[in-house]
Amino acid sequence: MILEALQHFLTPAAKEVKALGFVRESIAIEARYKRCRRAWAGHLDKCQQHILAAASDLKEKATIMIIGSGALHDAPVDELLLLGHRIVLVDIVHLAKVRRKYAQNDRVTFFEHDVTGLIKPLFDWQEAAPSLTAAKAKNKLPGADLAVSLNILSQLPINLITYAARRHIPLPGNFENALLADHLDLLSDLAPKQLIISDLERQYWADADAAQREEALPKDICQRLKEPCDIWDWHIAPKGELDKNISLRHKVACWPSGKSPLPSC
Ligand SMILES: C[S@@+](CC[C@H](N)C(=O)[O-])C[C@H]1O[C@@H](n2cnc3c(N)ncnc32)[C@H](O)[C@@H]1O
Repeated sequence: MILEALQHFLTPAAKEVKALGFVRESIAIEARYKRCRRAWAGHLDKCQQHILAAASDLKEKATIMIIGSGALHDAPVDELLLLGHRIVLVDIVHLAKVRRKYAQNDRVTFFEHDVTGLIKPLFDWQEAAPSLTAAKAKNKLPGADLAVSLNILSQLPINLITYAARRHIPLPGNFENALLADHLDLLSDLAPKQLIISDLERQYWADADAAQREEALPKDICQRLKEPCDIWDWHIAPKGELDKNISLRHKVACWPSGKSPLPSC
């Protein structure tokens, strides 16, 4: 705990990024990854295989953008580099360890970028201002040949909504839908080919037969995404991680644009 607090203090990030909890979360994900590495292995492998499959028909020296790159556990950066591609990594936080690993590689670019465009406006919000709308994020990202949305879609509204509730900031009723729809539009603007990997459902298992289930994405977004090409389980928190009697499992799905790249798709 003390080490994590120190790491939080030492990690450079804008004050709004820290205030909304993104740095704390990145550090916590890294710590959980270390504890749950074995339970996460199947999910991480699935993500990496789908990204490699989506990249398999790209021309040489293509640019692949990975949005939600974070600690890169689920991103096959080394393999994509071996194929000769350029990699653009986009996340609101990249911890020092991740940046150090590719600091000398001129084919890897890091963008610490808020893909919603709403973190700062929310942090700066004043009582007299009108309520925030999930307006299109100002796109300061370069174009790419393939844009991957990697385990980020369902996460986008969470910290924003929590922060707004804490500070009594009014958000429009369709906030979550609009925000996620904006992300899907952004992906199409960024690249002719896209791959979306996101959790669909959260399952809380108290015993082997029954789980309490929670949708991870709004219905309108699921309808827009249509049928996923693959679905698998991410054993994100085995018993003992969040609670001694309950484990948390995410149903994760994958939507490639264009023709389906994996034989299972
Ligand atoms: C579940 S993690 C993805 C896993 C990550 N690839 C890894 O291996 O650590 C979701 C990521 O989305 C990022 N994120 C959340 N909201 C964001 C935003 N508005 N803009 C950019 N990144 C955001 C978080 O910082 C986090 O790294």
